[in-house]
Parts: sequence; C-alpha cells; structure tokens
Amino acid sequence: MITNTELEYKGDLYPSKIVSYEQEVDSVYFYTSNSVILKVTILRDSMLRFRYTTKGYFSNDFSYAIDQNHSHGYNFLEVDEKETMYQIRTSKVICNIQKSDLRIAILDIDGKVILEDELGFHWEESYEFGGNIVKMSKTSRDGESFYGLGDKATQLNLKGKRVENFATDQYAFQKEQDPLYKVVPFYIGLQNKQAYGIFFDNTFRTTFDFCHDRRNVASFWADGGEMNYYFIYGPKMKDVVISYTDLTGKPELPPLWTLGYHQCKWSYYPESNVKEITAKFRALKIPCDAIYLDIDYMDGFRCFTWDKNHFPDPKRMVAELAADGFKTIVIIDPGIKVDKEYAIYKEALDKDYFCKRADGPYMKGKVWPGECNFPDYTNPEVREWWAGLFKELVADIGVKGVWNDMNEPAVMEVPNKTFPNDVRHNYDGNPCSHRKAHNVYGTQMARATYHGVKKFAYPKRPFVITRSAYSGAQRYTSSWTGDNVATWEHLWIANIQVQRMNISGMGFTGSDIGGFAEQPTGELYARWIQLGVFHPFCRTHSSGDHGHQEPWAFDEEVTDISRKFINLRYQLLPYLYTMFWQYIEYGIPMLKPLVYFDQEDIQTHYRNDEFIFGNQILVCPILEPNALGRRMYVPRGQWYNYWTNLMFKGGKEMWVDTKFDEIPVFVKAGAVIPKYPVQQYVGELDFDELTLDLYYKEGTEKSVVYEDAQDGYDYKKGRYSFLSFQVTGKKNELIIQLHKDGKFDTSYSNYKINFIGLPFEVKTVEINNEKFDFDKKTFDNVNFLVVEKEFRVLHIIGV
Ligand code: GLC
Repeated sequence: MITNTELEYKGDLYPSKIVSYEQEVDSVYFYTSNSVILKVTILRDSMLRFRYTTKGYFSNDFSYAIDQNHSHGYNFLEVDEKETMYQIRTSKVICNIQKSDLRIAILDIDGKVILEDELGFHWEESYEFGGNIVKMSKTSRDGESFYGLGDKATQLNLKGKRVENFATDQYAFQKEQDPLYKVVPFYIGLQNKQAYGIFFDNTFRTTFDFCHDRRNVASFWADGGEMNYYFIYGPKMKDVVISYTDLTGKPELPPLWTLGYHQCKWSYYPESNVKEITAKFRALKIPCDAIYLDIDYMDGFRCFTWDKNHFPDPKRMVAELAADGFKTIVIIDPGIKVDKEYAIYKEALDKDYFCKRADGPYMKGKVWPGECNFPDYTNPEVREWWAGLFKELVADIGVKGVWNDMNEPAVMEVPNKTFPNDVRHNYDGNPCSHRKAHNVYGTQMARATYHGVKKFAYPKRPFVITRSAYSGAQRYTSSWTGDNVATWEHLWIANIQVQRMNISGMGFTGSDIGGFAEQPTGELYARWIQLGVFHPFCRTHSSGDHGHQEPWAFDEEVTDISRKFINLRYQLLPYLYTMFWQYIEYGIPMLKPLVYFDQEDIQTHYRNDEFIFGNQILVCPILEPNALGRRMYVPRGQWYNYWTNLMFKGGKEMWVDTKFDEIPVFVKAGAVIPKYPVQQYVGELDFDELTLDLYYKEGTEKSVVYEDAQDGYDYKKGRYSFLSFQVTGKKNELIIQLHKDGKFDTSYSNYKINFIGLPFEVKTVEINNEKFDFDKKTFDNVNFLVVEKEFRVLHIIGV
C-alpha cells in the first residue's frame, strides 16, 4: 500500500476501543485501551482538528504552516455520549466517534454524511527509521472529485491519482512527474456538489491516494510525525479555500510594480548586457517593471557578493535602471561556498549556523559554487542573521526584490538530489532530522529573506520569490513553478499548476514564460505570453544556453503580440490589484478554476483549461500550434466576447474563433472593469481618468475597485480607496450606484465610462438626479461618458 515511499510495508496497527474521554474547553480527548489518544479541537463551527498519538502522550504542538492570527472561535459546541459513539456538535457539523474503533464520521447538521473514515487512523511501525508511518483512509463515494495539492503537473481533478509531497529540484520535469518543488498537503473533496477540505499538516514525506489504489477509498499517510489534520466544512469550495487560506495565512499587499511584467534569464551579464535589454524594452515600447540578475552577478557564486568585472558599480547600475523604471531583483541560493576567505562563510562557521550531520560534521554538498555548507533556516537565530545580510543589497545598493532558488534544498551529484535524512535541524527549538525539516527548509529560507528585505526596504514593501514552499509560505513570498520546458505540453501544465496553486492558498505564482529549458518557437512563446499575462506573477525566464527569449527574440509578429498582451496587463492593473486585495483581505483565490466558479454545474468538474481571472474575466489559452480557435466550456451566465463585444449565454461547450493575436477572453455581463492607460512601468504616467468598461446586462451586478498609494503601508491605516459599483440594467435604462470607502484620494478626477452592449439609444443622462449635459452625437458614435469621480448615482435613460 505504500509502494511509492522509501520505506517497506510491514503491516498495519489500529486503535482499539475507547476507554475514556475528557473535554478541555475547545478540545475533546479520547483514550483507547492500546494507548492511542485522539484529540479533537474545535477551531470554528466549520473547522475541526484531529490529532492522534500512539505513544500515550502528545509531543510539543508546533507548526510552521499555521498562521498565529488565524480566526478561531465557535458559536456552539456540545459533546454527548451515546450508546455506540460520542458525538460532537457545532452549529455547522456533527462529528461521530465510534467507541469500538475510534472511527470518525462527519455530517452536516441535516445529518447528511460529508466524510467518513474507511479504516480511519492506523499506523505501521517502521523500525527502519524507528518511528511510525501514520495513515488515514476515508471512504470515497461515487462521483467524488478532488482538487488542490499545490504544483502537481497533472489534471486539475485528482480523482484516480496518487501524489507525493517531497520538495524536489525537478529540472525539465514532465507531465505527471511527481513530486515537484512545492508541498501543499491540502485537498478539496467535492461530492454531491458539496465541498470539504483536508489539510494534513505533517512535514514529513506525505502521500495522497485519491481512489487510485482502491476505487472507493481516499487515503493519505506520512513517513513519520503525527496524524494531524484539519477538516474544513464547505459546502462551497469558496468557503473551504478561504478557510484554509485563513488558517495558513495571507500575505501583505505587494507593491503594484510586482504585478507588472518581469524579464529574466540565466543570465544577463555583464552590466552592458543588462542595459541593452532594458533599453530595448523602452525602445520597442514593451512595458516592463523588473529585471533579474541570475547567479552570474556574484563573485564565484558566493551569495551577497558581486563579480566586480561584470558589475563594477552595482549601486550606480541599480540607480540608473531605477531611473528608467526598472527594479532590480537578484538571486540568492542557500548553498554557502566553503571558502575560508569568504566573510559570510566565516561568520556562519564562527556562529555555528550551518546544518550538521547526525554524527557531527557540517552537511556538505555541491551546488553552483562547488562545495557548500547550508544555513539551518529552521533556527530562529540563523533566520535573524540571514535577514540582516540583506542590508547592503537592499538598503545600500537599492535592489528591490530577492529570488530564492535551489531551496528544496537542491544538492548536485547525489541520487536523492538533497540532504541525507540524518541531517539535524533546530526546527524552532524542536530538534529533528531532515526527514521532518526537508519540506519546510525552502519556506524558512524565504521567510528569513522576506524579513530582511522587508526591514531594509521599509517604508516600501518587499518582494521575494521562491522555488520551494510548504503550506503557509504565501505569508512571506511569491513563487514560480520551477524549471519547465519550452513545449506545448508545458503550456498546458503551466495553466493547471497556476490554477491549482491559487486554490491551494498560494496565488502569487507564475511559470517561466516560454519555458526554461530548450527553445520555444515564436508561436509557442506568443501563446505563452497570452496566458502568462493572466497569471498573478508574470515573468519570462529561460536558461541562456538555449538562445534568446525576450519578446523581440522571434519575429515582428510575435513582438507585436507580446506588446499587445503586456499592454493589456498594464491596462488591467487596477483590476489585478483589486483581485490581489481580495486575496489578502479575504483569502479569495485570484484565479478560479471553473469548478470553483460554479461547482453546481457538473460540467465544470473535469475542466482544466478555462479559468476565471479575478471575478469577472473568463480566459482560455490556446494550447496547440496552428489554431484558428478552439472548443471550450463557457460557464453558466451571460458573457461578452472581449474582442468582438458580442454577448451570448454560457452553460455550454462551444467553438470560439481566434486569430494568432487573440485567445478566448470573455467578460461577465454586468461587470465594470477598471483600466489604467498603458504605461511602460508602474507610475510612469500621471493620468486624469480611470477608464471603466461597463458591460450592460439586464439585472444587477456589483463590481469593486481597490486602489492605494501602490507601495508603502499607509493602506493599513485606512489610506485606500474602495469603489463599489452597483449596476442595474433595465430594458431602456441603466443605473450605476457608486459607493466609496477609504481615506485615499486617487490622483485622477474623472471616470471615463465605456458602455458596451447598451441595447437602447440614450435620450437623457442624470447625475445625482440632475440632468447632465452630454454630447449625444459623440455618445452615439463612441458610447462613452466622462464624469466626475464624485458621483453617487448615474442614470442613463433610453428611448
Ligand atoms: C535553477 C532555477 C533557475 C535558475 C538556475 C540558475 O535551475 O530554477 O530558475 O535560472 O537555477 O540559477
């Protein structure tokens, strides 16, 4: 049953009958006659935590994933003893615990089963490592679907799959290849149109089996640690994802420029090459906000140093790039070169900050610089030291963001590509081996980096990007999907990975546009940019030994398509920023797979390609060469084709024509989409109007726009502007009610409202119940109005 793990299967053990129970405030303990204890903690009416031990006592309760500020508290809790079971009731769920064998069933308050143990908790003693393999199995009913689990390169719906979580440097990974770089042991089950979630907070290597081994069983297990999972009740997927994201934490707002376009390569050097690239963006009028320096900027790949031949004066260069609107982002890896002359190495050695083998010596492994030692980021003192190292890069030189790579941790020339299991870690005062710390190593590195960049970038906001991550990493960092390949199949994978990451709490993610390994054709690059501009993180990156991969590296048509789509991203910045705000404020994923958008419609349960960008834009990439269009599923509701402005009804699969310079994009009827003018970088232009594209619909629809100073922390003191537009369309009138909140005054004074799909000829316009003089001729031709931003009610009346 555990064929995929490193350990050999020996035979399972089970809890025996419950002999006593006790309640302690929000927790109930159940004791069995063979020393198993189950602790059920009620975090919220809709969230229960299940913790099991077989030792007769619990180890210290510590988690890197859980956000200390998560919401907790319930309205109702009752614990009852019945003849054959105990029953815990909240206002949302009922949890039955069998007296005979400790098996669990969770029901909604109408008594409908949501999730039931099959074998339930069981374990296997593994003398190979001297601990237990802890297991859980649940009955899966017909028609159940499964989603989540981070960066898996397979269909969105995981039904029938088995996946493993072990952070791995997987260069040029393939479809279905597993495990990859990220570890998010969280899934959403959807059965009978009702959703629930399971978060198995165990950092050891974990495996999830979704009806792969046995048709009606979903199970998960870990190569050590505790059976410790959270059950999250829906019944909407939205409730599950929001609660999971609340539990594991939300980030702060990133600076707006990070939502612009980023250009990267391994590597741009020397300085003149960097400048050539940035100048070309400006010359070709392709917007770009960030330029990356990969490992070659360093002196012999020593972190926190510069190759002075190639970059004689980094501070000047970074300032010159900044004057042209470019923010410089540099890579920092965890491997510290073994070199007695290298200050950082010496300091870490003196302070005893490197990871050690169980028998004493430092953990030594090869990465880019050759032999390296590796800081133990699970030690809070090491994190503090590491954060301090960013002073020069960020405060003195002016670097705006840091890119953490190879932090699975990746080690070269060894078969398992990482540390041996015996390496010791501090684990924030809970000493352990690498078996337990492996999956969190990258997150703790990114966390330390984040604190450093944040401290020295203050009062500006930090930017960090990581390759490896464990649940909760989103509190500190964005991420990318690692070393993909320039193939059409990888475009398909990227689309799914980014959607999956979004419903796994880690929304600020993108892929290496165009593919990292090998070289894309111009057509593939164009199709990738067309998708990439709709990903929360948007960066082209490639390995230099495969040729050039800038938007102009192909032909003029591809350059024009790249510009057109990057321009569109820059126009949509206020829309993107608003969806980011909804993510940090409420935990709402920025991209929504169709099943998340409409779980009631079973047509959505197995869809992969189409997704909702924000709340109101439907996107479907073109994933094949020579396409003149594609079949796709348009979810229920009324939609406008973005390119033709024609409205139609969804709820069906259909053919959509596209040209090479288009992909299917649709806007939900009733939506108000905010747009900025195209800028070459964020903050380039002062403008006096916010454009609002209003898509008429008969009925009512609400749209919101969040804005603030685009950087800094004033937004936390209420200095933001929150606009809420309620649009009501009738046969021959349209009413727009605007509600404004927040203390930030946007610099523009007007809205330019584009009316799309108005079914009537406009006779009069009233603003706040007063007649508004407008040029009817112009209106009839171009269908827009410019109105002062202070209006409350705009009334358009037709004939
Ligand atoms: C790894 C990273 C890649 C980077 C390269 C060199 O392969 O995934 O993005 O360019 O290392 O630093």
